[in-house]
Amino acid sequence: MPDLLVGGRSVSVAHNANLLDSLLEAGINVSYSCRAGSCHACLVRGVSGTLHDIKPDALTTAQRDQGWHLACQCLVVDDAEVEVFDAARDGIPATVHSCDWPSPNVLRLRLMPQRPLRYSTGQHLSLCADDVIRPYSLASLPGEDSWLEFHIDCYRPGAFTTMAKALSVGAQLSLGQLHGAALRYDPEWQDRPLLLMASGTGLAPLYAVLREALRNDHQGPIRVLHVARHPTEHYLKPELGEIAKQHDQVQIEQVSSTDLSAALAELRLVPRQTIALLCGHPDSVECFARHLYLAGLPRSQIFTDSFLPHA
Ligand SMILES: Cc1cc2nc3c(=O)[nH]c(=O)nc-3n(C[C@H](O)[C@H](O)[C@H](O)COP(=O)(O)OP(=O)(O)OC[C@H]3O[C@@H](n4cnc5c(N)ncnc54)[C@H](O)[C@@H]3O)c2cc1C
Ligand code: FES
Repeated sequence: MPDLLVGGRSVSVAHNANLLDSLLEAGINVSYSCRAGSCHACLVRGVSGTLHDIKPDALTTAQRDQGWHLACQCLVVDDAEVEVFDAARDGIPATVHSCDWPSPNVLRLRLMPQRPLRYSTGQHLSLCADDVIRPYSLASLPGEDSWLEFHIDCYRPGAFTTMAKALSVGAQLSLGQLHGAALRYDPEWQDRPLLLMASGTGLAPLYAVLREALRNDHQGPIRVLHVARHPTEHYLKPELGEIAKQHDQVQIEQVSSTDLSAALAELRLVPRQTIALLCGHPDSVECFARHLYLAGLPRSQIFTDSFLPHA
């Protein structure tokens, strides 16, 4: 049985045991969220020994070179020493610049990192506070917004959302590592129709992609379809309305869950050249993607990012 050394403790674990399960069973305080290799909340650094990554491509070469592994996607194959991600040591301190409520359940959080952060549109970041680490997508536009913007769905009470609701200007958080690049704008799409479909706070990265497309002088039509539980949850209405006023090719549609079937039925009219970017709850993303595929859109033109909840 391999020995796992962590935080000065040694625990014997079964050969090929999942690293996250092993750490949790040993009572180690290791954060995690999706357990699917998507959120990167479970980062662990290998100090010595060998660990087997099931999904090595989930991390960048630079992250792997620094010794990072995703504990939920890692097997203990031999003796190894690891360090769990420590927000105080490994994270970037950030201060709350502003927080407001663009809808009754969506908290818009703007953070100023202690040092500049290079990121791309559509990436996510782990937000860390009070030992809770959860993934959130960036809604800000790199190079334009001086802050990092996040849209936090507070509809369900959860460890992070409960803490986030109490944040005020000047409060301190930590930022984990950047990851994800599924949603982005490619300048080669300039003349093609763009369909940006979001459910709930899935609008966050697509708002950034929309602004990125316009910054790149996108010429084709852009349709933004935002699905929310209730009309009061169609947040960013003024911001999107202003964008549509300034750009004739932008069409904004806000659909409540009760009217979703009619909106989905209309997807069969989507032009075949369309590039579709979908984001939000996994069930919604799956449903949007299925309808677009059945409408004849090739899978290679459908890009998705699912907000997997904490497992
Ligand atoms: C890559 C990525 C990017 C994300 N980006 C965003 C974002 O920009 N904005 C955003 O609001 N969320 C986003 N999420 C989802 C968010 O990280 C999770 O919903 C997270 O679990 C919320 O943390 P919490 O501590 O408040 O709730 P937890 O304490 O983690 O959860 C409490 C309970 O509620 C359930 N739950 C929590 N959230 C949901 C949900 N959305 N749907 C169904 N059940 C849920 C959990 O399964 C659990 O049982 C993202 C997720 C991923 C993987
Ligand atoms: S990537 Fe491991 S818990 Fe999400």
